[in-house]
Amino acid sequence: PLLSFAALLLGYALGSIPFGLIVTRLAGTQDIRSIGSGNIGATNVLRTGRKGLAAATLLGDALKGTLAVLLAGALLGPEAALLAALGAFLGHLFPVWLGFKGGKGVATFLGVTLALAWPAALVFAAAWLAVAFVTRYSSLAALVASVFTVLAAFLLGSPQTGGLLAILATLLWFMHRANIRRLLDGTEGRIGKKG
Ligand code: G3P
Repeated sequence: PLLSFAALLLGYALGSIPFGLIVTRLAGTQDIRSIGSGNIGATNVLRTGRKGLAAATLLGDALKGTLAVLLAGALLGPEAALLAALGAFLGHLFPVWLGFKGGKGVATFLGVTLALAWPAALVFAAAWLAVAFVTRYSSLAALVASVFTVLAAFLLGSPQTGGLLAILATLLWFMHRANIRRLLDGTEGRIGKKG
């Protein structure tokens, strides 16, 4: 139990680093939480018009999850890797530093998947790009991609990884509830347009 707690905590510590907020602050843009959807993720950082900052946000928010899983796996073992993935995801969604108001988990979902079952991460990337290319909805792309990723993890990874990613995908869908409502209403912002 102590090891499990350590793994969760390690994951949370890394996952709760809000890269979107950090890179936009460093660049001196308007507070990311006051524009577009108000989210701190790469999609909303893109709405500042700064593609490099959005890319840095995607990379940071993804790789902190990858790093958490790899570190916990190396130091504490394979079960700890799964718990670190959960911790990193929860850290991103509910960072104590921001009053527990974090992101929606897309990049971090991709990052932990990369470390747990990399072929499933390729499935995520392919599905996300396909849906985003056709519809220009970042949220819809993530929602669809997360489902394919869970299926891929069960088929190409282990049942444990599949089960964990199913939990994360469920949380990801929950965090997108406002996006889902907007998608159904036809009012969701598209990539390349100011939200
Ligand atoms: O799935 C991408 C999601 O993060 C959408 O972001 O800013 O449009 O709510 P946003």
